[in-house]
Amino acid sequence: MQHYRKIDDALYWVGANDRRLSLFENVHPLRHGVSYNAYLLLDEKTVLFDTADWAVGRQFIDNVTALLDGRDLDYLVLNHVEPDHAASLGEVLLRWPQVKLISTAKAIQFLDQFGFRLSPEQVETVKEGDERSFGAHTVTFLSAPMVHWPEVMVTFDKTSGVLFSADAFGTFRALDGKLFADEFDFERDFLEEARRYYANIVGKFGPQVQSLLKKVSGLDIRFICPLHGPVWRKDAGWFVDKYVRWSAYEPEERGVVVVYASMYGGTEQAAEALCAKLAQRGVVNTRLYDVSTVHVSDLISDIFKYSHLALASVTYNMGLFPPMHALLEDMKALNLQNRVCALVENGSWAIRSGALMTEALSELKNMTLLEPKVTLTSALAPDSDAQLDALADALAASVNQ
Ligand code: FEO
Repeated sequence: MQHYRKIDDALYWVGANDRRLSLFENVHPLRHGVSYNAYLLLDEKTVLFDTADWAVGRQFIDNVTALLDGRDLDYLVLNHVEPDHAASLGEVLLRWPQVKLISTAKAIQFLDQFGFRLSPEQVETVKEGDERSFGAHTVTFLSAPMVHWPEVMVTFDKTSGVLFSADAFGTFRALDGKLFADEFDFERDFLEEARRYYANIVGKFGPQVQSLLKKVSGLDIRFICPLHGPVWRKDAGWFVDKYVRWSAYEPEERGVVVVYASMYGGTEQAAEALCAKLAQRGVVNTRLYDVSTVHVSDLISDIFKYSHLALASVTYNMGLFPPMHALLEDMKALNLQNRVCALVENGSWAIRSGALMTEALSELKNMTLLEPKVTLTSALAPDSDAQLDALADALAASVNQ
């Protein structure tokens, strides 16, 4: 049974939702599912923009088939060929074997690597600034490398002002019949998942996102149609501003994320005491997380959001506690930068966690390390209170700057 939504006079959303997938990319937990968006333009020519993950292929194909209503599919524009968007290509080719694929040369290479053996007659490669007319609608193609794979392009429909933005402006969370961002309370229902999607999927590529934002800033955009999540037709500037901040690694809010790694509770107590001391100093925009129980994608998301980060970690086998090590590695992999950090180290013997966290943070750009560091030798001790007071003073002064 088909399920589609009309966007503009000739453009339809023909995507589908997956609420069964537990891990996006087999890494990031999905608590509310995800949508795979594809769009169909019914002009003199029929044009499909992207496909969908194979898990929802049946629904996607039903949607396209119903709207085509017996017409052939003339073109398939592939903005991004990661399998969550291109895996249904095989089924599209079976149903509409005469369809002509339009994409970048790199995308065609990747499709071949994924096992799609396409003949030269099936493919039109395009590059930055190329245009195609499908009847009333003329589109132009803009390259968007590393947003978030190297082959990515975005497509702008100059006639209707539609930007097919690939992964840019995408979010986790399935759609529920509503499609447009203004049909939801986006800030309440989607912003957390949009940030978690951005930080973990696209976060590494801030400069490339900025380059794309600059490239599209002069376009008269009426609709932003991403490959995941709601379509924007109103107040898109609010969401674009989030992208401007995230891609510049600028925090959205002044506040402190406190992440602790604790085996027997000593480091946890120190982290809680630090939060209490921050609250006593009026710093209440804080988040306290156990690195062992909160998924790293959530930690990364909040670290992108807040201006300050306090890490408290036990020493483990003379190294860092593995989940804390994984968090720091992920921060590095995602190019996280421009944060003010505070440290609490702990160890019953050969305390190493402070030095190792300092070393890891020094490998990130523009990270400011506050003094003093707090040192525990197993649990809170008589001198811990003064140490934590000093660190809370430094954090509060920095947050309130
Ligand atoms: Fe939603 Fe980069 O794929």
